[in-house]
Amino acid sequence: MSADRFSLAGRVVAITGGAGLLGGEHAHAVAEAGATPALLDVDGEAAQRRAEEVGRGAFGLAADVTDEASLRTARDAIVGRTGRIDCLINNAARNPKVEGSGLAASTRLEQMPLTEWQRDLDVGLTGAFLCARVLGGRIAAAGDGGAIVNVASDLALISPDQRLYRVEGLPEDEQPVKPLTYSVVKAGLVGMTRWLATYWADRGVRVNAISPGGVEAGQPDEFQVRLAERIPLGRMARRDEYRAAIVFLLSDASSYMTGHNMVMDGGRTVW
Ligand SMILES: NC(=O)c1ccc[n+]([C@@H]2O[C@H](COP(=O)([O-])OP(=O)(O)OC[C@H]3O[C@@H](n4cnc5c(N)ncnc54)[C@H](O)[C@@H]3O)[C@@H](O)[C@H]2O)c1
Repeated sequence: MSADRFSLAGRVVAITGGAGLLGGEHAHAVAEAGATPALLDVDGEAAQRRAEEVGRGAFGLAADVTDEASLRTARDAIVGRTGRIDCLINNAARNPKVEGSGLAASTRLEQMPLTEWQRDLDVGLTGAFLCARVLGGRIAAAGDGGAIVNVASDLALISPDQRLYRVEGLPEDEQPVKPLTYSVVKAGLVGMTRWLATYWADRGVRVNAISPGGVEAGQPDEFQVRLAERIPLGRMARRDEYRAAIVFLLSDASSYMTGHNMVMDGGRTVW
C-alpha cells in the first residue's frame, strides 16, 4: 500500500473553530499531509495568528458559523484565493473547559439559562448544518469528490460522569456539571454525519465523524487523575494524537468509509 493514499496534496481544507485548541492541531495535520488549511473562527485575528504558526500556506478568516451570510463570504474568500474547497472539518463548538475554578453551577439542568441552551445548539448544531450547506454544498457542487469530518466527542456515546466535575464542599444544588447541551450537540452531530453521508454519497463526498476523548490542556491534577481512572489507557489524550485520524478520514486512505463515527478515546467508552 502506498503512503500516497494519505496525501492531501493540492487540497483545500476549511476548518471551523480554527483558532481553538484542536482547530490548530487539525490545521497542522492537513498541512503536513500537503493540504492548504483555511482556518475559520469567530475570532478572525486569532485564526490568522494560528495560521501563521502553522505556515505552509495556511490562512485565517473571520467567520461566524451561526451566520450564513458570514459563511458565504468566507466560502467566496477561500475559493477566490485558492480556486477550490475539497474538505470541511466542522470543529467549532462552545466547549466549557475544566480550568481553574472548573465549570459554573449554572450548567445544572435547573439553572441553565434558556439563552445558553440556545447558544450552545446554535454554534454546535445549527453551525454545523450551515457549514454543511454553504461549504459542503460548494464541495458537492464541484463534482470532484471531497470529505467532511464532524468533530463529535466520547460524550456523543456516553453520558458525562458528573462525579468528575464535583467541587468539594459545595451543596448538591450548586455542584457544576457538564451541560446537557454538550451531549445533545455531540449526539446530534453523529446523526447529522449519517444523514449527510447518504445524502451526498452519489456526489462522492464522504462524511464521517470523529469522537475524541478529553485532551490534556492544563486541567487541575485532581481532575486529570479522576478522569484517567475511567480510561483504560490511563491518561488523557495529547493534543496532537488526533492528527493522523483527521488525515485518514479526509484522505483517500478512507475512500470506502462514510457515515462512520471514529471513536478515539483511550478506550473510555469500552469500559
Ligand atoms: N478539547 C477536548 O478535550 C475535546 C474533546 C472532545 C471533543 N472536543 C471537540 O473538539 C472541538 C474543538 O474543541 P477545542 O477544545 O479545540 O475547543 P476550543 O474552545 O479551544 O475551540 C473552539 C473554537 O471555536 C470557536 N468558535 C466558537 N463559536 C464560534 C462561532 N460561532 N463561529 C466560529 N467559530 C466559533 C472559538 O472561538 C474557538 O476558537 C469541539 O467541537 C469540541 O467539542 C474537544
